[in-house]
Amino acid sequence: EKGGYDWFMRKEIYEQPQAVSDTLLGRFDADRQLTLDEIRIAPAELRSIDKIVIVACGTAYYAGLVAKYAIEHWTRVPCEVEIASEFRYRDPIITPRTLVVTISQSGETADTLMAVRHAREQGAKVIAICNTNGSTIPRESDAVIYTHAGPEIGVASTKGFLTQVTACYLLGLYLAQVRGTKFGDEIATIMAELETMPAKIQQVLDGTEDLHALARELHQVPSVLFLGRHVGYPVALEGALKLKEIAYLHAEGFPAGELKHGPIALVEEGIPVFVVVPPQGRDQLHDKVISNIQEVRARGARTIVLVEEGDAEVEPYADKLIRLPKASTLLQPLLATVPLQIFACEVATLLGHDVDQPRNLAKSVTVE
Ligand code: BG6
Repeated sequence: EKGGYDWFMRKEIYEQPQAVSDTLLGRFDADRQLTLDEIRIAPAELRSIDKIVIVACGTAYYAGLVAKYAIEHWTRVPCEVEIASEFRYRDPIITPRTLVVTISQSGETADTLMAVRHAREQGAKVIAICNTNGSTIPRESDAVIYTHAGPEIGVASTKGFLTQVTACYLLGLYLAQVRGTKFGDEIATIMAELETMPAKIQQVLDGTEDLHALARELHQVPSVLFLGRHVGYPVALEGALKLKEIAYLHAEGFPAGELKHGPIALVEEGIPVFVVVPPQGRDQLHDKVISNIQEVRARGARTIVLVEEGDAEVEPYADKLIRLPKASTLLQPLLATVPLQIFACEVATLLGHDVDQPRNLAKSVTVE
């Protein structure tokens, strides 16, 4: 059943090229138009929305945080992302012109379901991004985009995350197409890059043997930090969550620019700090993140740096380099998350934990 892997989680990590490719399948037709047949919301209605609110829990929430950057950039519609359990209880401003997007792998998470009901009571349209056919959240929503990742058994979500980000990007591009904020050829260019991602994810998977040695070195540390900026920030949060969930290690993700406002006080001799570096040259934040790496290293941190191949600038400040294939900034999370998933899986395995069934957690939480 595990296809020769020790854990379902590891199998699912290795299924990610196929899963992302299945999410993308058949969405871009011969006339180079993005078609999301599942969206049964009239284009006129999609043109009238003035706000997007993404609501989700756990890893799905982090997928939403990644998606916000792309959706706002492509559609110019303000996009908020909110933890589902916080959403309805604060009397959120939802109107018939709000598009609520829920993200849920299982489609059964009670907190997210309650958010759907609340949003629809306020007259908002709800689109579900979901992996489980016929589950409750899509049934109660106005429309659904299925991620087609196949069953996810490991409690800690992996291919769920990558396919959720991909589906959110399809939705963002579709909205940009309908609302005319991106031209057809721009959308085609981004779609073409998205279609290269499964092969690049495979490249990342093929180059991760040395993460085992890294896990061996680090599995007994008391605490691990993760830093990123822009879309790299939610990647940092997701990297930390994976370690908490399955390795029971104290881990935290921070926006790298926020370091100096507090978290840098946590940096002491030997603490591992993972840093996601934005693509070089095409990204103004690249140099700022390199400075952050220097700052933590000067204070004794062990820096583990995820950086695009060919970027040599960071080499002097990295105790360990994890090379990523080149991709544009918005698509980098589909690559940078993968080594962090594998690292957490390796650490948890070394510590002797049940990776697929971590203590105290359930795959779908059907109580609020
Ligand atoms: C948690 C799971 O309880 O629910 C997480 O342990 C998951 O792995 C979260 O990310 C949200 O689940 P879903 O099914 O709504 O995406």
